Amino acid sequence: MSAAHTGRAWWRDALIYQVYVRSFADSTGNGVGDLDGIRHHLDYIAALGVDGIWLNPCYPSPQRDHGYDVSDYFSIDPEYGTLEVFDALVAGAHERSLRVLMDIVPNHCSDQHPWFRAALAAPPGSAERDRFWFRDGRPDAAGGDGPPNNWLAGFGGSAWTRASEAGAPADDPQWYLGTFSPYQPDFNHTNPDVAAMFAEVLEFWFDRGVDGFRVDAIQPVGKHPDLPDQVVDPPDLDPLQIPWTNEFTIFRPEGHDVWRAWRHTIDRYAQRHGRELMMVAEAYLVRQPELMAEFTEPDQFHQAFAFDVMLSPWDQQSVRRSVDDPLLAYSLSGSPPAWTLNNHDTQRIVTRLGRPEATDPNTWTDLNLKLSSDPGDDARGTRRARASIVFTAALPGALYLYQGEELGLPEVLDIPLEQRQDPVVERTGGETLGRDGCRVPMPWHDAASANFGFSPDGSRNPSWLPQPDDWGDYAVSIEVADPESTLQLYRAMATARRALRTEPHDIDWIDVGNAGLGFRRGRYTVILNLSSVELDVGTVVDDEAEAMLWSGTHAPAPTSIPADSAVWFRHR
Ligand code: GLC
Repeated sequence: MSAAHTGRAWWRDALIYQVYVRSFADSTGNGVGDLDGIRHHLDYIAALGVDGIWLNPCYPSPQRDHGYDVSDYFSIDPEYGTLEVFDALVAGAHERSLRVLMDIVPNHCSDQHPWFRAALAAPPGSAERDRFWFRDGRPDAAGGDGPPNNWLAGFGGSAWTRASEAGAPADDPQWYLGTFSPYQPDFNHTNPDVAAMFAEVLEFWFDRGVDGFRVDAIQPVGKHPDLPDQVVDPPDLDPLQIPWTNEFTIFRPEGHDVWRAWRHTIDRYAQRHGRELMMVAEAYLVRQPELMAEFTEPDQFHQAFAFDVMLSPWDQQSVRRSVDDPLLAYSLSGSPPAWTLNNHDTQRIVTRLGRPEATDPNTWTDLNLKLSSDPGDDARGTRRARASIVFTAALPGALYLYQGEELGLPEVLDIPLEQRQDPVVERTGGETLGRDGCRVPMPWHDAASANFGFSPDGSRNPSWLPQPDDWGDYAVSIEVADPESTLQLYRAMATARRALRTEPHDIDWIDVGNAGLGFRRGRYTVILNLSSVELDVGTVVDDEAEAMLWSGTHAPAPTSIPADSAVWFRHR
C-alpha cells in the first residue's frame, strides 16, 4: 500500500472516513456500536471509495465524555471488543486497502486512570501528583478556600476541582486542573513519565498495525508553568468560549516540545519498520494560518484539520477566506490541509446550512451547539451540504468525512434533555444542547429492522441515543438504490477525486461574480454557486468543457450553475 512510487505520502490527499464507534453498528444487540459491527461493514466503507478510517477512541473508559476520558491507553473498552477483535478489524481494513487511524487523547485522561487514582492517594508534592496539575487553593472573594486561578473549563464551570471531591482525604489542601471537566484531569507533559507513556502508546498501536493517529484537542497541552490568571477579553465573552482564549494554556510554546518529541518517535518507528505513519492535529486553528503552519512544520504534525470551511457561513467572502487561510498555511509549512465539513462535535451540515442565519456572517455563530430559534430548512441545507462537499473535495489536501454525512443525515434536534449524554449538557445545567444530535446511531435499514438495522435482527434494546421516526428515510439500503441520493453523490465524489489527484496541488481563483466562487486546478474548473438563483458561467467555462461532478440531482447545462450547488468541469 506504499505511496512511495508516486512520491507523495498517502495521507497528503487521502479521503478518510471517521467512524464514531459507539454509533456505527452494534453487533451484540446491546444498543451500543462496537468494533465487530465496524468489521462487518468494512465492505460498505470500502465501497464509498475512501482510503482509510479514523476510529473515535475505543480505549477502556468510563465514557463520561464517550471515550475522550481514557482509563487505559493500552487496551480496548470491553463494551467495544477486545484487542483480538481490534486486530481483526485492522487486518480486515488493510485487506481492503483501508488505512486505520486511532484517536489519541494527550491532554487528559479519565479520573479513573490508575495514575490519577495514585495521585489522589499520594501527598502534595509527590511524584504521583507531578504527572498532573495539582496546586494549593487560594482565598476566594469571601475569604474561603478558592481555586488556584480563574481558569474555566471547556464544558462549563471552573477548570479546578478539589482533590477531596475526587477521592483524596477530606483535609487535602490541593485542587487539580481539568481543562474540559473534573472527570478529565490534565496531564503535565513536562513530566518524564507522561512523555514516556505516550511514546509507548504510539509504538504499542503501531505494532498492532495502526497507520496513524488523530491527535485530540492539542490546544491546551502546553501550559505556562506559573498558571497565571487569565485576562478575559472581552469581559462579556461566552463562558464556554473563555477557556479557548486563555493565552496561558492555549497553543503554548510548551506544546510544540511535546509534538516534536512525538514526531521523533513516529519518524524513528516508521524508518525502522519501513512504514508511512502520520499524525493529524485536531486544533481549532481557524483564521490563524500562521499558527496552523507552526504546528505543521516538518518536525511536528504531518497535518492539521482545517475546520475553516466547516465553521464558515454560507457567504462568498467567508467561504473564500475559509479556503485561503488553510492554503496559506500549506504554502508556509508544506503540509496540505485536512479539510472537513463535519465531525462528532459539530452540528451536522444539513441542519447548520439550512439555518436562517447561515447566509449572514454577522449573526452566524461558530459554536453550533445551541438551538437556533428557527430550526431552518433541511431541503435548503441538503442542497448546500451537497454543494459544499463537491466544492471542498476539489481542494488540494486530504478530506475527512464523518459517518452519516454520506447519507445526508440532519442533526437530531429534539433528543429529550434527560436522554442527552454529552457532558456539556449536564455541566451547563441544560443550557447547551450539546453534541448528541450528530452522534445518533446510523440507519442501515428501514423501520422493520432493530434500530433501523443499527442493531442485529431480533434485538430489543433501544439504541444508546434515540433515533427519530423518519431515520429509515436515510437508510443505507434506501440510498444505495436511489441514483439521486447523497450516498451516490459521495461515491461519485470519491471516484472523481481519484482522477483529480494527478492534477497540480494548487488552485487559482477565477472571477464568477458576487454570488459564487470559482477556481481552476490543472485542467479542472470548479464553481460554487452560493446564491438562490442560477449563476451564468459562460465566460469561464467553454462549451467543450465536460461536467465531471455536480451536486444537483442532474447534470447542469454547461453555462449555468443551479442555485446552492457546485460543479466540476474538466477542460480538454
Ligand atoms: C475533542 C474531541 C471531543 C472531546 C474533547 C475532549 O475536541 O473531539 O469530542 O470532548 O476533545 O477530549
